[in-house]
Amino acid sequence: PVGTRYEAENAVISQGAVENNHTGYTGTGFVNLDNVAGSYLQWTVTAPGASLATLTFRYANGTTANRPMDVTVNGSLIADELAFAPTVNWDDWDTQTITGVRLPAGGSTVRATSTTSNGGPNLDHLEV
Ligand code: GCU
Ligand code: CA
Repeated sequence: PVGTRYEAENAVISQGAVENNHTGYTGTGFVNLDNVAGSYLQWTVTAPGASLATLTFRYANGTTANRPMDVTVNGSLIADELAFAPTVNWDDWDTQTITGVRLPAGGSTVRATSTTSNGGPNLDHLEV
């Protein structure tokens, strides 16, 4: 099922910027994280009740190298160096998914942090 979409441009950005110089994004743009380890995006997502959720990240990676990210939910690591494999180019978007994520009722923070000096991919949105 299609979940709720949370745009990257509305998330908390640490070391990055909202941009729109590539095509194909949803909303008004995407986030270009700085190409450093530690740059991150943090969303607040809402679950109607305690639930098992699927997190789907839409991203572009116009390089030839993986751009892994650590993903935490409410501070707990749920995906260690999750792969964001190359897409065709920076205008081509793909998704990466984490299933079986336990969310408590109410708001949860989902943070995706670049783990290498290449930074993360460009991020378009998160669907929960
Ligand atoms: C290019 C591209 C950016 C991207 C960057 C990167 O500059 O235009 O959108 O973020 O490469 O390598 O991270
Ligand atoms: Ca970047």
